[in-house]
Amino acid sequence: MTHPASHADLSANLPADLPVKLRERAAALDAADPLARYCDLFAPSEGLVAYLDGNSLGRPLTATRERLASFVDGPWAARLIRSWDEGWMDAPTELGDTLGRVALGAAPGQTVVADSTTVLLYKLARAAVDARPGRRVIVADTENFPTDRFVLQGIAAERGLELRWITPDAEAGVTPEDVAAAVGPDTALVLLSHVAYKSGYVADLPAITRIAHDAGALVLWDLCHSVGAVPLDLDADGVDLAVGCTYKYLNGGPGSPAFAYLAAGLQDEVRQPVQGWMGAADPFAMGPEYEPATGIRQLISGTPPVIGMLPMRDMLALVEEAGMPAVRAKSLALTGFAMEIADEYLTGVRVASPRDPERRGSHIMLDHPDFKRVVAEAWARGVIPDFRPPQGLRVGLSPLSTSFAELAAGLSLIRNLLG
Ligand SMILES: Cc1ncc(COP(=O)(O)O)c(C=O)c1O
Repeated sequence: MTHPASHADLSANLPADLPVKLRERAAALDAADPLARYCDLFAPSEGLVAYLDGNSLGRPLTATRERLASFVDGPWAARLIRSWDEGWMDAPTELGDTLGRVALGAAPGQTVVADSTTVLLYKLARAAVDARPGRRVIVADTENFPTDRFVLQGIAAERGLELRWITPDAEAGVTPEDVAAAVGPDTALVLLSHVAYKSGYVADLPAITRIAHDAGALVLWDLCHSVGAVPLDLDADGVDLAVGCTYKYLNGGPGSPAFAYLAAGLQDEVRQPVQGWMGAADPFAMGPEYEPATGIRQLISGTPPVIGMLPMRDMLALVEEAGMPAVRAKSLALTGFAMEIADEYLTGVRVASPRDPERRGSHIMLDHPDFKRVVAEAWARGVIPDFRPPQGLRVGLSPLSTSFAELAAGLSLIRNLLG
């Protein structure tokens, strides 16, 4: 079976052995989905039955092909180096402002697109601990993504600081109570993921931010699994610092640059450690000493990855058109349907993610001892979730590119492979 050419074909492409009740339920959910037409805007993928990994690498939009081609012929080939003065120099902050408006709840001048998540995590975490001299502790959790933990280990060694680990319930996530018990007058920084990369648990960002602030600490949020899927209100929630990637729900493509948010009120207080010419007050002065740019530009280090910023512009336009509340509503309907299928049809499979919609991101984790084998076999048949050790199958549901019929088709193949 190939990926359905259009939304109208979706039910026609469901596998023949799909239970009738499930087929009808998927068709009804697709028929009622106000965002269904967006599924047709993504580039077809030969042999694909169900893409359940949009939380790892989003699918390309068809429009992106044209955007990339016209970039080569236009700003690059025709305008050459003049393009730096005609928009490229401002691209990190101009795109950052768009991202802030569409997906972060951030007023202009606080978001920049640059580097990778890992590098921006390092820059912001180092800047934050240096801005709280005398405080020796960084609070983090053992369930966070490896890069977050590894970056902090490096900073702690570099600055002679102590890491205080929260060990949350792996199927839930870090709670305000966990944070309240871990922070104190010694805490410089708290680093957490808003949506946990395994369980999909949504942390209580406003409450945790308040608790850290009451202890005098700064908070750095990793928004990789939130941005473009879970609404954010960074300014209103008083967030200090945040980073996230753009190749998941923002469909920026492999290795697309990350973003960093630095609240306006902190921009004169922090100083990031990777001093490069592009983050200098006047990059073309070529002077003897580094003088940081003011405002959000100070977070830039080297030449902006202009090509890597192109595809996400198409997705941001769609997200803005659809609106984050509608995107979130579809995300919850998809994860809810995935849980319903798991409960009713996947014998022996356990849902290892929060059932409470308020605490649920846009992916769910399913648990079964055979999932390593099953995921490998599913990939070969065009159903693509991902495997997370020890025995988790992660179902990532990108709201604008995934239909309910596609999800039903994917999970019914998983059922057949479980035997
Ligand atoms: C929570 C989280 N942080 C960071 C990253 C990745 O960092 P980078 O973009 O530098 O590879 C990921 C990647 O999946 C992630 O899930």
